[in-house]
Amino acid sequence: MKDLKFNRHRRLRQSENLRAMVRENFLRTDDLIYPLFVVEGDNVKNPVASMPGVYQISLDYLKEELDELNRLGIYSIILFGVPAEKDALGKSAYDANGIVQQAARLVKEYYPEMVVVADTCLCQYTDHGHCGIVEGGKILNDPTLDLLAKTAVSQAEAGADIIAPSNMMDGFVAAIRKGLDEAGFIDVPIMSYAVKFSSSFYGPFRDAAHSSPQFGDRRTYQMDPANRKEALREAQSDMEEGADFLIVKPALSYLDIIRDVKNEFNAPVVAYNVSGEYSMIKAAAANGWVDEKAMVMEKLTSMKRAGADLIITYAAKDAAAWIKGE
Ligand code: PBG
Repeated sequence: MKDLKFNRHRRLRQSENLRAMVRENFLRTDDLIYPLFVVEGDNVKNPVASMPGVYQISLDYLKEELDELNRLGIYSIILFGVPAEKDALGKSAYDANGIVQQAARLVKEYYPEMVVVADTCLCQYTDHGHCGIVEGGKILNDPTLDLLAKTAVSQAEAGADIIAPSNMMDGFVAAIRKGLDEAGFIDVPIMSYAVKFSSSFYGPFRDAAHSSPQFGDRRTYQMDPANRKEALREAQSDMEEGADFLIVKPALSYLDIIRDVKNEFNAPVVAYNVSGEYSMIKAAAANGWVDEKAMVMEKLTSMKRAGADLIITYAAKDAAAWIKGE
């Protein structure tokens, strides 16, 4: 043993204070964006069975939800609408009185400082559940772009601060940028779901948002989970078209992609910690199999470490409370 030479990494791990001094990554409440599902009607607070702690709420519950977020120090939300009416063209997505538009207006009334991100897609609003116009079983790209631009403009008119297009049609950032600029919203940023995989981890969300495709799947527009280089091509296009933020979705099984995008581009990177990633920890914790707090903080920190600047997560309220020491 006497002449053995090796490095002593444990020197820097001897106490909590020492460990804190050399800690490299941190989760802050400022990093968190909380998803909200808004539905039409009154007095609705529907628990989403597959996502314990997540509810679909009607607008009369909005104020108490925002009060809670405000108390926890969360000042950014992403709105998902669950409309009463669906049709082939998803008209309620771009209705000035659509559910997201109404919600955005109300949030801005109650909490003008709250950063409202509007998810811009059609799948919750179309009767076939696809993210674009369908003809002969095909999802049409270019005709869908006009509807997305219309949706984005109506969301901006209602007060949305950031537009987050999630439907993976080619050219959606360019089309939305043009639509926003022409309507005078040159200062409304686009948080693009640049890299969105066709993932089984979206299952619980589709229960929450009633947005399952009624035929087929989304593999002609969302990415193949096996692909890595393609993610950079997707992100590159969105940057060229004017994206201000790049989302990678899902997060946990795609930490390599988050790192690739972070290394390659200078825009803020957003990890979308999706529904299935939330539900599996909730389910395991409910069985007493895992330590929920430790596991959630570890996974969110891993996303920061991978390169995420921001994280969209259903666990935002839990994490914010833990960060506050509650
Ligand atoms: C809709 C959309 C999806 C999610 C966000 N926006 C699902 C999908 O593509 O079906 C998933 C979010 C989650 O699972 O938490 N385009």
